[in-house]
Amino acid sequence: MLEKITKDNLLNIKNQEFEIKTEDITGNFILTNEAKKRLQKIKHFFDSGIPVLLEGPTGTSKTKTIQILCKLLQKKLIRFNLSSETTIEDLIGRLGSCNEDSWSSFKFVPGPFTEAFEKGYVLLLDEVNLGQKSVLQCMETALDTGEIIQDISGCGRIKKIMNKNFILVATQNPRIEGFTNQREELSQKFLSRFTIVEFPPFEIEELRNIARGIAEKKDYKQMDIVKQISDFHYQWVYNEKISKSSPQCFTIRDLNSTINAISKGQEPCDAAICFYGSRYRGKDFEYFMELLKKNFTPLYKDLKLIQELPSDFPKCYSNYSLKKVFYFANIAKMNGRHLLIVGKEGSGITQVSKWISYYFTPKEKRENNFIFIFSPETTISDMIGKYIPKGDISDSTSGIFEWRNGPLTLAVKEGYSGVFDNISLAPAKVIESLNGLLDLKDTNEDYYFDIPQNIYEPKIKIHKDFLFVATCSLDQMDKLSPAFLNRFTVINLEDQLEGANEFQEKEAIKCLIGTEFSEKKK
Ligand SMILES: Nc1ncnc2c1ncn2[C@@H]1O[C@H](COP(=O)(O)OP(=O)(O)OP(=O)(O)O)[C@@H](O)[C@H]1O
Ligand SMILES: [Mg+2]
Repeated sequence: MLEKITKDNLLNIKNQEFEIKTEDITGNFILTNEAKKRLQKIKHFFDSGIPVLLEGPTGTSKTKTIQILCKLLQKKLIRFNLSSETTIEDLIGRLGSCNEDSWSSFKFVPGPFTEAFEKGYVLLLDEVNLGQKSVLQCMETALDTGEIIQDISGCGRIKKIMNKNFILVATQNPRIEGFTNQREELSQKFLSRFTIVEFPPFEIEELRNIARGIAEKKDYKQMDIVKQISDFHYQWVYNEKISKSSPQCFTIRDLNSTINAISKGQEPCDAAICFYGSRYRGKDFEYFMELLKKNFTPLYKDLKLIQELPSDFPKCYSNYSLKKVFYFANIAKMNGRHLLIVGKEGSGITQVSKWISYYFTPKEKRENNFIFIFSPETTISDMIGKYIPKGDISDSTSGIFEWRNGPLTLAVKEGYSGVFDNISLAPAKVIESLNGLLDLKDTNEDYYFDIPQNIYEPKIKIHKDFLFVATCSLDQMDKLSPAFLNRFTVINLEDQLEGANEFQEKEAIKCLIGTEFSEKKK
């Protein structure tokens, strides 16, 4: 059946060029020639009705391309991040009620797949290879038959017909040698449903054009500095001298953040150190600075860092390492990046992250500031929430279960920060389902976090003050996938006791093991 639809539709592909003009593009997206070609290519497959699988390393504009294309075509886009815990009901739909206080009017509430399938929207399934086999199989059958026929508990058998405008797009990061990412290998049968479009890493010319385009949009005039930063980016990405244990992985996200920061008045060298260098320690950091100094002289400046911590920073043992982390965390935060604080085990990364997360939480919400400790047993529900028994079970009007938001959902919704401690301990499939949530918000539009499990509020608006502060010990960094890592600005906390005398050491230890927060006295 699918083959026939595919062939018929292929014949209908209009050969005419799909015209895209720069003025049609909003936000910070730069319409390079290559970006135009990618958009035109995918538009071609959209016309054919064949599902598309975008495959390429992290930060190669897979998601962004689909978002831009849907805007240009004025097609409604539903984006959904698959995870190992996504169930068929999360995608297809489940029994629910529109009224949270009453379970009297139960009905079938469609999930993202059914909604897009029936109404003819574009469905973007990010991280498709995180999904369970049974979930992928269910989608496969719907694509094959043009129908969703599914038994939903409490609703009986539901049947939905595919709208001819329905378009399915999936994305996946390729398998990386040496990295055990616990992702499913998509079956040949599943893959054969899709046209695969490769998204290779950006070439230097395109990176330069994007960096220049962003600087122009932001009215930044020093194009020599912009070119230096793009060239430095390219050299650094392919640098082999950095020790393997250091967390590498840089993409256009880091380049965009650096250009963004300098256009807001940040000193260029500090911006470059923040997004490219602040994760390194010792010899690697020295090498980073040397390379800047030797090959990028106009950009280079000595790192002085004399700034004291702000007066309302929590009471702590103030030292150079902490000030350095705070300094770069501040630049990263101002440019919309989430933070990953790394360091040797026992170096105080959890405590330092707590102070930083507390400080970056708006004053009136600081009592909500929290710490979430990961373990290998952590589930997505632990972070986002779950249904819990409600009221008196014998009273049929009170309902049986109610949804209770988890700490992450509350922080996203109400706009505060929390520490996600020891992130490498969580199963990769669990934390990677957060990739969509942690994507850079680079337009003024509203961004949403999908929680299909919660039928009353399956989408929540991501508050502008939400900040994810994660910690990871240095020797566990290789457990994090490049895609997850690249959503953060990674900052290294060095030895906080270096150069301290006996009295300072005592003071430091008292602070680092203390759990109470109190405002630093002026
Ligand atoms: N042509 C462009 N102009 C400006 N910014 C761009 C362009 N293409 C991509 N970007 C930016 O690059 C970043 C990464 O893009 P995107 O999120 O689409 O990558 P991805 O391939 O989906 O990565 P992942 O596999 O990790 O999900 C985004 O912040 C996006 O806005
Ligand atoms: Mg993506």
